[in-house]
Amino acid sequence: MIDLKPVRGTRDFYPAELRLRHWLFDIWRGTARQFGFEEYDACVLESEALYVRKAGDEITGQLYNFDDKGGRRLALRPEMTPTLARLILQRQRALQFPLKWFSIPQCFRYERMTRGRKREHYQWNLDVIGQPGNVAEVETISALIASLEAMGLTAEHVRLHLNDRRLLTAVLERAGVPEEHHLPVMVVMDKRDKIGGEQLEALLGEQGLSGTQVRRIDEFLAMSSLEEVKTALGGDTPAVAELEALQELLGRVGFGDWVGFDITVVRGLSYYTGTVFELRDRSASLRAICGGGRYDSLLSAFGGDPIPAIGFGFGDVVILELLGDLGLLPQLGTDLDYVVIPFSEAQVPAALELSQKLRRKGLRVDADFALRKLKRALQRASEIGARRAVLLMPDELERGEVVVRDMAKREERRVAMEAFLEE
Ligand code: HAM
Repeated sequence: MIDLKPVRGTRDFYPAELRLRHWLFDIWRGTARQFGFEEYDACVLESEALYVRKAGDEITGQLYNFDDKGGRRLALRPEMTPTLARLILQRQRALQFPLKWFSIPQCFRYERMTRGRKREHYQWNLDVIGQPGNVAEVETISALIASLEAMGLTAEHVRLHLNDRRLLTAVLERAGVPEEHHLPVMVVMDKRDKIGGEQLEALLGEQGLSGTQVRRIDEFLAMSSLEEVKTALGGDTPAVAELEALQELLGRVGFGDWVGFDITVVRGLSYYTGTVFELRDRSASLRAICGGGRYDSLLSAFGGDPIPAIGFGFGDVVILELLGDLGLLPQLGTDLDYVVIPFSEAQVPAALELSQKLRRKGLRVDADFALRKLKRALQRASEIGARRAVLLMPDELERGEVVVRDMAKREERRVAMEAFLEE
């Protein structure tokens, strides 16, 4: 007997779950288009080399990788950003920047499974390539928040935690950490929430940091306002001014309530160079819902010209959990206009013919040929969310009539078949 369960960490999508997934994707796609982003896609298989990074990113250790039959080292993509960089670099001379692109790729990571983390997920990626400075930040973050509003969420439910890698760099400089250690140290700092103080200290020790340096960093990470950090860093730290300007612009477009400074947001991917952000639920009971930031050096790291870029990845797993917890998941039916129900075998040909005539009119029609008891057939029609049922009863059909039932109003009327088709 073969194991019928999906591979550990992966999901099956039965129709009800797929309806929900499509509902979410429609919001993502609709929002992206509303903001003028264009959709792209690529194959889930990539060269492993695309994900190998020096700083020790966790994602590299989570790769689904293998040799293909031709001896190539391949991987299932764990994220879309390197693929996006590859696409841009291939056409660097031909493309018109800035570009606003989005995608909804399925991604694979061999993760330790916890609530909200699986080994396969879909991730809405929205990126602006070739636009330096805060404008692109405001546009991507605005699109993100607009999608949350479309899901029925408010600033009471979630918060966008905002920080800047340049600010963290200033903190590390202040703590006396040599520059070549900054990236690996940030990758370790990102684990702070997951592993706790002692283990963090040990890991930072492995990066060559002294106890005093770790304490210094910890002091900064305990600061809750940008004001406080500004004072502690003293003088004019450019990253502070950038963050202030960004927050002001986000306020100006009406999203100020959703956003707040959070110095503990580091992000685990080493390619970020400036703004970084994570979306979290207010009760902080779930993992990050969405994460992103500016990565101005990734394209040059791949051998191209330097091109500024910013974007985010927004997974389908945590958001559906949160919406479920809050009772905000929609009740989705099949969206059928009609279910045609023949009373018995004798009315089946007429049901086939009528269904086809209705479909030609552009209506969504299911014909129910299970020949169940009428009551059961109507119950099913209502369960699958059909708006109306058309009953083909022996006597009525003989007279050239059908019975049309409005499922919501529970009202029935007899109509001549011809008149019904004219309606
Ligand atoms: P990331 O933080 O690794 O960033 O992932 C972004 C989002 O994908 C997470 O916030 C979460 O919603 C979802 N996600 C990640 N891993 C899993 C998992 N194992 N199970 C379920 N959901 C998951 C990136 O991937 C960046 N490439 C995002 C980006 C785009 N930055 C710039 N542009």
